[in-house]
Amino acid sequence: MNITDWNAIADAYFEIDDPEGRAVLTFIREKLTKLQPKRLLDYGGGDGKFAVLCAESLPLQEIVTYDPAPRMASLARSLCADFKQIRVTDATHEIQSGVFDVVTFNAVWMCLTSREACLDTLSEIARLLRSNGRLVASVTHPCFRTCKFSNYFTDFNNRDYSNDGTLFNVTIYDGKRELRIVDVHWSLTAMTSQLNESGFVIENLYELPRSTSGSSQPDASLWLVILAHKL
Ligand SMILES: C[S@@+](CC[C@H](N)C(=O)[O-])C[C@H]1O[C@@H](n2cnc3c(N)ncnc32)[C@H](O)[C@@H]1O
Repeated sequence: MNITDWNAIADAYFEIDDPEGRAVLTFIREKLTKLQPKRLLDYGGGDGKFAVLCAESLPLQEIVTYDPAPRMASLARSLCADFKQIRVTDATHEIQSGVFDVVTFNAVWMCLTSREACLDTLSEIARLLRSNGRLVASVTHPCFRTCKFSNYFTDFNNRDYSNDGTLFNVTIYDGKRELRIVDVHWSLTAMTSQLNESGFVIENLYELPRSTSGSSQPDASLWLVILAHKL
């Protein structure tokens, strides 16, 4: 099983990605309304749709959207061209340290293939945040990978729950199109310790309520949102 090449599937992701239909992004935008950041970094921001969603509804001075996949960054540049407050980059070294009030990290943790890669990425996010700045991370809930959701299912086996770094196949569909990707499993224990080691303190965990999870299984939550702050 090979990990997803996000550059190669950027266009297919752009086609199927509907941020308005992803309840977790609406939930995070509401959290941002309360946090009132002036400067926001969307780390692994992909095609830029979340940046646009934020620019349209929040009084932000600056939004930077960073994605290392050149095709994703290119799609984001086109999409964000009309928004003066959004800057798109595919290189983190171009981003100034310690200036962001909030960093969002949506559906990126499952792309990171080793514990070292997770620690490097979280430490880089800590570098970019101001002191006491917030990290808002969303991940597919590691405890509900075997549930079949209305637009998402995986071939994960729960016997691998404690095998951090296990790869699994994901199918995302929207009724017309289907996209297959390979994600990486990190348990709650792994994500918690990675955050602690990178200088973050968890403030809250949000398991999205059933009505917004899009699940056909009533007790399952597809998305987990982790709110943490930098020490
Ligand atoms: C599932 S997409 C999510 C995109 C966007 N955040 C969203 O919610 O639609 C995962 C994104 O993570 C990016 N990515 C992969 N590895 C990364 C890394 N090490 N650092 C930052 N972004 C990464 C990919 O290029 C891809 O755009």
